[in-house]
Amino acid sequence: MAVHIIDHPLVQHKLSIMRNKETSTIKFRELLKEISMLMGYEITKDFPLTYEEIETPLMKMNAPKIEGKKVVIAPILRAGLGMVEGLTTLIPSARVGHIGMYRDEETCLPVFYYYKMPKTKDRLVIVTDPMLATGGSAIDAITRLKNDGFTSIRMMSLVASPQGLKAVQEKHPDVDIYLASLDEGLNEKNYILPGLGDAGDRIFGTK
Ligand code: PRP
Ligand code: URA
Repeated sequence: MAVHIIDHPLVQHKLSIMRNKETSTIKFRELLKEISMLMGYEITKDFPLTYEEIETPLMKMNAPKIEGKKVVIAPILRAGLGMVEGLTTLIPSARVGHIGMYRDEETCLPVFYYYKMPKTKDRLVIVTDPMLATGGSAIDAITRLKNDGFTSIRMMSLVASPQGLKAVQEKHPDVDIYLASLDEGLNEKNYILPGLGDAGDRIFGTK
């Protein structure tokens, strides 16, 4: 469906600091949480409201509340974990699933190692992964969710390459994609350019 690029100045400013190779792990993690909150504001923008009568200290009123089923946040391990806290801060009732996969260094193809999602399937799933490079990991994660019975899925990434974005859109045209930036391309090792390097290593300090 749609690609939403969140060009809010706060998101863009924080992303620029994250891209800088001098930025520390502590700062990188903190900024990823903050950006996830800001992007979460956009990703929840069309959530339907219902009205419930409450009493303020002065009078009764019909007060708006978010209607509907609980959201599931589904980080692609490891780097997607860095986006969970920002979203659960906004949506405390959200469930959190986990999709374990890594990109093989030689083939750049995703390899599954873990999958755990809630049993109830009629919920919106927000898949998180800061990097959408070739798109292989996002494509396989979404396919797995669909095979498991989930039908309402959104993807939230920080940075995407044009070819990765195209690949995900072609394979999963029903999935809305939320990004902070559409970057220039990929290098010979399929790293996003200009990108921000290896997101997992920068979040967890494993380089
Ligand atoms: C990175 C990133 C995505 C994937 C993107 O994970 O977090 O999951 O690569 O690449 P793709 O679009 O070409 O599939 P990585 O395999 O490095 O694992 P990690 O998060 O555990 O470091
Ligand atoms: N994974 C990352 O963490 N960064 C990239 O640029 C590509 C894949």
